Amino acid sequence: MAWHPHLWHPITQVARSDAPQRVVRAQGSLLQLEDGRELIDAISSWWVTLHGHAEPSIAEAIGRQAQQLEQVIFANFSHSPAEQLASRLSALTGLERLFFSDNGSSAVEVALKMAWQWWRNQGSERRQLIAFEGAYHGDTFGAMAVGDRSVFTEAFEDLLFDVTRLPWPATHWGDEQVEEREAAALAVLSEALQTPTAALIVEPLIQGAAGMRMVRPQFLKAVAELVQSSGALLIADEVMTGFGRTGAVFACQRAGIQPDLVALSKGLTGGFLPMAVTMASERIYAGFISESEPTATFFHGHSFTANPLGCAAALASLDLLEANPERYSGFEARHQPHLTALSNHPKVLHARCTGTVAAFELDAGETSYLNPIGKTVQRHCIEQGVYLRPLGNVVYLLPPLCTSDAQLEQCYEALRSCLDQL
Ligand SMILES: Cc1ncc(COP(=O)(O)O)c(C=O)c1O
Repeated sequence: MAWHPHLWHPITQVARSDAPQRVVRAQGSLLQLEDGRELIDAISSWWVTLHGHAEPSIAEAIGRQAQQLEQVIFANFSHSPAEQLASRLSALTGLERLFFSDNGSSAVEVALKMAWQWWRNQGSERRQLIAFEGAYHGDTFGAMAVGDRSVFTEAFEDLLFDVTRLPWPATHWGDEQVEEREAAALAVLSEALQTPTAALIVEPLIQGAAGMRMVRPQFLKAVAELVQSSGALLIADEVMTGFGRTGAVFACQRAGIQPDLVALSKGLTGGFLPMAVTMASERIYAGFISESEPTATFFHGHSFTANPLGCAAALASLDLLEANPERYSGFEARHQPHLTALSNHPKVLHARCTGTVAAFELDAGETSYLNPIGKTVQRHCIEQGVYLRPLGNVVYLLPPLCTSDAQLEQCYEALRSCLDQL
């Protein structure tokens, strides 16, 4: 296929990429291409497709809602889908207040702005923000600033605010040095917290875009304890990890931590509609209420705030998630035997798995987003009927929950045959 003369595709170097394939339908785990081929969507279309493509109950919920109330300004008005969603997500996250936006980057921006202004509203001088090496929190300016510097941010570095950076003790199967690296990272955190700190932001359990870099739940727990006992706020960016991806509804639950702010998107609507939320504690919400001081207000809002179609999709998606917990809690055990077999291959390094996410590195040069081996793997797997999008030499699977055993087997078989050819 040729490039369209009027489209600009995201994160794509046209000079070095194949033109995109046209998709005409999607159902369950399968994408149907215009030329008749079918591909297993083994990365859930940038990690959004939760239950499966065209999941009927979500499609129906959106259709019903569209005939009743498609959109209304959310200042001065409220509606039942937004209220129901707020109550349900509040119960699930342990955070009382829900603020709407439209994408993961904005949900992160909102969390950062809330944390920053909350301290300011109290007249506090806490000005340090802490984030991790390798972090990715989105492509808007605040999200880029707390994300680590990379090819994504290079052009904008002069415009990004300073953040204190901590080591991320990523681990993998058979890692014998993890405890030392965790202790070193915690020591850097303790030192950093000597400076008055507004907040720390973390991708809980898995750094996604950095290359599916996983940490142990006990590390996350230790981070949360240090941060919260210092009085700083803990922001969990669950944009990728939320809604069952790590084997629990939220990664924070799996790690046994309770953040002060949580950013959610991607799987929120089951992957049907662009919607995001920032969950905040009542304590934070209360810090914005003032009869006498207008600047205490959180002056942030988006045109499509609380879009009723998105809310209806999210409610239907939560129904599915709650009705079938074994679908996400049991996925790790389904990856395990396949990944174990693959990990014996001499080209496979650092195999790791958390919930629905399985990953490894290819022993093929530098570990980098720009490592060209990823494109070779992608082409080979597409020929085998499996759509992957490796992060450089990091290959990962993050399939929709409906993926059958036979489809999962096909994904691993495509990788096995690819490894043999490399
Ligand atoms: C952890 C995390 N935060 C934020 C984002 C940004 O989300 P969006 O692409 O919806 O802006 C992403 C996207 O991949 C992500 O993985």
